[in-house]
Amino acid sequence: MPKILIQFAHPTLSKSSVQKTMESYCRAVKGVTFNDLYENYPDLYIDVKKEQQLLLQHDIIVLQHPFYWYSSPPIMKQWLDLVLEYNWAYGPEGNRLAGKKIFNALSCGGSKEAYKDTGYNRFPVNEYLLPFNQTAHLCKMEYLPPFVIHETYSMKQQTIDDHGKQYASILKAFVNNEIQQEHYQHIEYLNELHLLSALNS
Ligand SMILES: Cc1cc2nc3c(=O)[nH]c(=O)nc-3n(C[C@H](O)[C@H](O)[C@H](O)COP(=O)(O)O)c2cc1C
Repeated sequence: MPKILIQFAHPTLSKSSVQKTMESYCRAVKGVTFNDLYENYPDLYIDVKKEQQLLLQHDIIVLQHPFYWYSSPPIMKQWLDLVLEYNWAYGPEGNRLAGKKIFNALSCGGSKEAYKDTGYNRFPVNEYLLPFNQTAHLCKMEYLPPFVIHETYSMKQQTIDDHGKQYASILKAFVNNEIQQEHYQHIEYLNELHLLSALNS
């Protein structure tokens, strides 16, 4: 069974509604390890060896965070900078993450329409995520489409719960090996996987 590691970054979780709800749903999924980076490293001093061990122990890595200035909160970058070492994660002898899957799971204020070439954000979310995509590629990992929750500002708790349940069902399907490459290779967001019959049975 694949094991999932959620690398979570929210600097003000006490004020969160969407990520807080996502957290509670995904923590309940068997086979998921939830690693709260701001809780573990409030001073940003990351335990590199511990984080590398965690990566080795899991098959699917999820970078879960609110979208801040078209990227992640800064601890996610700090974690990437320190943990993905040369000749460990990348470089001629850096094969430790090869073959693992990785994707972003994010929430953002902007609507899907706003992330079109005609919208005020001009580019799709997937284009803003290209540095994550290429980082994964350099580490010989497989970068999957992101799970994205749009329009968080006016979202009712019932809708947030629906997204949380959908997120958990997708994680569960990964743990149960019910999602294969053919299911996600042509989709924009992993959210579309909820149409899969395996997830609705
Ligand atoms: C510092 C900051 C930067 C933000 N940048 C963006 C952004 O670039 N694009 C966007 O759509 N939303 C942006 N937002 C909105 C957040 O993504 C949104 O409020 C968050 O995902 C909601 O989740 P939460 O309830 O867990 O905080 C930003 C919010 C903050 C506080």
